[in-house]
Amino acid sequence: MANVTDGYTFRTMRADDYDQAIELWNGLDGLGLSEADSPERIARFLQRNEGLSFVCEYAGNIIGTILAGHDSRRGFLYHLGVTAEHRGHGIATRLVDRALSALLTEGIDKCHLFVMEHNTGGQRFWSANGWEKRDGILLYSRDLA
Ligand SMILES: CC(C)(COP(=O)(O)OP(=O)(O)OC[C@H]1O[C@@H](n2cnc3c(N)ncnc32)[C@H](O)[C@@H]1OP(=O)(O)O)[C@@H](O)C(=O)NCCC(=O)NCCS
Repeated sequence: MANVTDGYTFRTMRADDYDQAIELWNGLDGLGLSEADSPERIARFLQRNEGLSFVCEYAGNIIGTILAGHDSRRGFLYHLGVTAEHRGHGIATRLVDRALSALLTEGIDKCHLFVMEHNTGGQRFWSANGWEKRDGILLYSRDLA
């Protein structure tokens, strides 16, 4: 269900939001995009994690997004972004709150996220909002196909 404050409408993300979402993501410096961000893969992510990802609309346009999902053990956040002209109004905070509440209702009580090393703005956002930067953990990745 959508809810509106200060002209901003928050609602769950749908597959048909893709065109506006990818345009937003392409314009953001701190996000890492890959083949996992194709329309089909995003639609599959939203289907597997129904009701956990959110958008914020202003005047009918998507100006903020967050993707959230879980693997039944831990939650993961991706693609938190707000267009530059709407920053500083608590949009990101409200998107994160909604995603974490939705994860909690699925029984997920801990959430992780990845931040690019060069994304100092993103790091400051997470640190200012109660997230712990972990030491002693390294991320290993491997292509399967
Ligand atoms: C990071 C981002 C999502 C923040 O969006 P936002 O809607 O402006 O954030 P909020 O208004 O909810 O910020 C809440 C608080 O976080 C802190 N904060 C937000 N952005 C910050 C920044 N760049 N540097 C330092 N603190 C920041 C502030 O304490 C702020 O509170 P204040 O407005 O009372 O000062 C936005 O700057 C963005 O889209 N950046 C590019 C994409 C990106 O890096 N995303 C994160 C990927 S890991």
